[in-house]
Amino acid sequence: MATLRLQICILAFCASLLIPSSYSHDEKKHAALFVFGDSLFDVGNNNYINTSSSFQSNNWPYGETFFNYATGRASDGRLIPDFIAEYAKLPFIMPYLQPGFNNYVYGVNFASGGAGALAETHQGFVIDLKTQLSYFKNVEKQLRHKLGDAEAYTFLSNAVYLISIGSNDYFTPFGTNSTLFESHSHEEYVGMVIGNLTNVIKEIYKKGGRKFGFANGFPLGCVPSMRILKPESLGACVEEVTALVKLHSRVLAKDLLKLKTKLQGFRYSNANFYNQVNEIIDNPLKYGFKEGKAACCGSGPYRGISSCGGKKGSAEFHLCENVTEYVFFDSGHPTERVYQILSKLWWSGTPYVTGTSIHLMELFDL
Ligand SMILES: *[C@@H]1O[C@H](CO)[C@@H](O)[C@H](O)[C@H]1NC(C)=O
Ligand SMILES: *[C@@H]1O[C@H](CO)[C@@H](O)[C@H](O)[C@H]1NC(C)=O
Ligand SMILES: *[C@@H]1O[C@H](CO)[C@@H](O)[C@H](O)[C@H]1NC(C)=O
Ligand SMILES: *[C@@H]1O[C@H](CO)[C@@H](O)[C@H](O)[C@H]1NC(C)=O
Repeated sequence: MATLRLQICILAFCASLLIPSSYSHDEKKHAALFVFGDSLFDVGNNNYINTSSSFQSNNWPYGETFFNYATGRASDGRLIPDFIAEYAKLPFIMPYLQPGFNNYVYGVNFASGGAGALAETHQGFVIDLKTQLSYFKNVEKQLRHKLGDAEAYTFLSNAVYLISIGSNDYFTPFGTNSTLFESHSHEEYVGMVIGNLTNVIKEIYKKGGRKFGFANGFPLGCVPSMRILKPESLGACVEEVTALVKLHSRVLAKDLLKLKTKLQGFRYSNANFYNQVNEIIDNPLKYGFKEGKAACCGSGPYRGISSCGGKKGSAEFHLCENVTEYVFFDSGHPTERVYQILSKLWWSGTPYVTGTSIHLMELFDL
């Protein structure tokens, strides 16, 4: 019921008034959406932190296709959480750090461009996953204050939690010196990334969270910035990064199965985008694109130098004429059209439903 029935009696006359009760109305009609992660999901949190322009996308031409201004999203338009919110009939989910924003009835987005599951990844410049969790705990406290413990718990149990994390943990060791990476085997390093991710899942579960969506397997080794990493093999994907991404996806799939047996009521939709995105990169024409390897915005070969917008170190950059022809918008991020394809598949397409992983759509059922 979306309304409160008020019986008002004056003398002998009673009237029934149907009054929409704003909070419980909204909260009962839909599942809220909480978003954690990196630049694939950041809708503007990094606009409000003290960071380097490398981790911000709040200047033209970011946002040019859909919003007509730079919201902080690292693409020409909408990101996966925007499409998922649309399919779930929710409004755009707002960034947690947006000043003055504190109405969590539809959920909130904690994601931060450049963030990893490991605290060491871009430390000091991003909101790492653990800090995102602490923000979620603040929200949970506020909800309990507003709704009471039981209702807040129910609200959080009905909500869907989307997480995209790991890319930056695997990216950084290839541009910077990472003692953490160098002092561990690939298996150990991936184990730490997933260990920190599953810790966060368990903490969200403790607060009521039951329904999770995981985006992983993005082919990092083949983004434009990686294609220019080794001048001797210019244009090739970086196989070591690809191997890490694949290992991450394998371990994550296994650990999610384990979690499902341990945590009662835990349900998830696990999207491994690896094959799909690789297929689009290799056969752009088949999907209505013209260019699968070079970015629309940036400089150098494949526009693999991260200079889109002219604020990331170098003032000069090239911007393509027709962004809809491109798979990549900048040196590390896909265009809105790619995000739309992936969102549709994740929501209700066939490839991502395997074993105990279900369509994202099903998680939004109340
Ligand atoms: C922001 O970061 C820079 C460089 O790390 C530092 O010099 C500056 O004091 C910081 N500003 C604030 C307001 O924290
Ligand atoms: C990494 O460290 C090596 C030596 O330990 C140094 O030569 C190299 O320039 C460093 N690379 C970066 C990206 O800092
Ligand atoms: C989480 O990451 C840290 C490094 O930031 C690592 O020392 C720790 O072992 C990881 N935790 C788990 C459970 O893997
Ligand atoms: C941009 O490219 C798309 C796909 O190739 C095409 O359909 C569209 O007409 C182009 N738009 C312009 C303005 O050239």
